[in-house]
Amino acid sequence: MTVGAGRTGRPTLAVVGATGAVGTVMLQILSQHADIWGEIRLIASPRSAGRKLALRGEQVEVVALTEEAFDGVHVAMFDVPDEVAAQWAPVAAARGAVVVDNSGAFRMDPQVPLVVPEVNPHAARVRPRGIIANPNCTTLSMIVALGALHAEFGLRELVVSSYQAVSGAGRAGVETLRQQLSMVAGTELGTSPGDVRRAVGDNTGPFPEPVALNVVPWAGSLREDGWSSEEMKVRDESRKILGLPRLPVAVTCVRVPVVTTHSLTVHARFEGEVTVHKAREILATAPGVVLFDNPEAGEFPTPADVVGTDPTWVGRVRRALDDPTALELFVCGDNLRKGAALNTAQIAELVAADFG
Ligand SMILES: NC(=O)c1ccc[n+]([C@@H]2O[C@H](COP(=O)([O-])OP(=O)(O)OC[C@H]3O[C@@H](n4cnc5c(N)ncnc54)[C@H](OP(=O)(O)O)[C@@H]3O)[C@@H](O)[C@H]2O)c1
Repeated sequence: MTVGAGRTGRPTLAVVGATGAVGTVMLQILSQHADIWGEIRLIASPRSAGRKLALRGEQVEVVALTEEAFDGVHVAMFDVPDEVAAQWAPVAAARGAVVVDNSGAFRMDPQVPLVVPEVNPHAARVRPRGIIANPNCTTLSMIVALGALHAEFGLRELVVSSYQAVSGAGRAGVETLRQQLSMVAGTELGTSPGDVRRAVGDNTGPFPEPVALNVVPWAGSLREDGWSSEEMKVRDESRKILGLPRLPVAVTCVRVPVVTTHSLTVHARFEGEVTVHKAREILATAPGVVLFDNPEAGEFPTPADVVGTDPTWVGRVRRALDDPTALELFVCGDNLRKGAALNTAQIAELVAADFG
């Protein structure tokens, strides 16, 4: 580390992408968490320069992304599209900042640790490029619970289906769902093939199909053999975070008409026999996890209740009917909090603890 704490005695933080879906939640988190930072510099595209955003009870002006914007910055969080992070994170690192990047640009770089503080905090200390990556929101929505179960039982295989919120596709995703909902509300649509599509028109925003009154079995872009980029991310990133490079992982990512909070069904197979009793004990005590599992009383996590909260919520814990070594779980996590901004903030706080 080449720089010490700033004049205030506290490290200077930059939030790049402060105006976006993740950036907006980041500013809320920074206003709520223990205030460990000196200056917090808000950075976005030149389109947003001069805008004022609420932070720690004050209005802070946004500045445009330039090399000079990183002068004196100790930690720089990047909440911007992949190509912007790919170009600018190394610039910030070269100017002495430790970068915590939320994009997909560096996650699988072997020189860049991929960190979830509850699972592999030690990895944040080894960062040869000066960059630490934050996992994607779908992986993050389940990995804290899986990390706790893996530590006890030893994970051998994962089969996952996601039910992903539209805010996973940024502000544009949320705008698309809200617009489509206003077009279908109060109608009898959803009763004949193509009626929803005709009502919402050809512009389906970041999604390949209408998302209102629908589920869409697709997230991201096309990869080899019909897999989506989001599905590959869940596989590759889970392996890297858990330190299990050959873990068999099968994922199907599905978009649902939920604003924020991803849900996942997980079939997890372990080294030996597992019991629901022990699994519940682990989940009930794991940091960052809430076990909410009482189907008799109709109690299980749903996005409508989980949104805006920090933990990974787990319900429907069952042992697989045909395999005593496997568990079935239903997991919910706010994709903008733990799934993005919160995990980044936690990593930045880990790094900040090194600045005396
Ligand atoms: N949404 C999620 O659930 C989620 C979860 C985990 C990770 N991520 C990742 O986090 C990143 C941000 O996602 P988001 O959902 O917050 O996106 P978003 O709502 O579209 O916001 C994008 C942000 O990047 C800024 N930006 C865009 N182009 C720029 C440029 N050329 N120079 C400087 N700033 C620029 C925007 O500034 P302006 O307002 O000035 O355009 C805005 O602040 C992405 O890499 C995404 O993959 C998202």
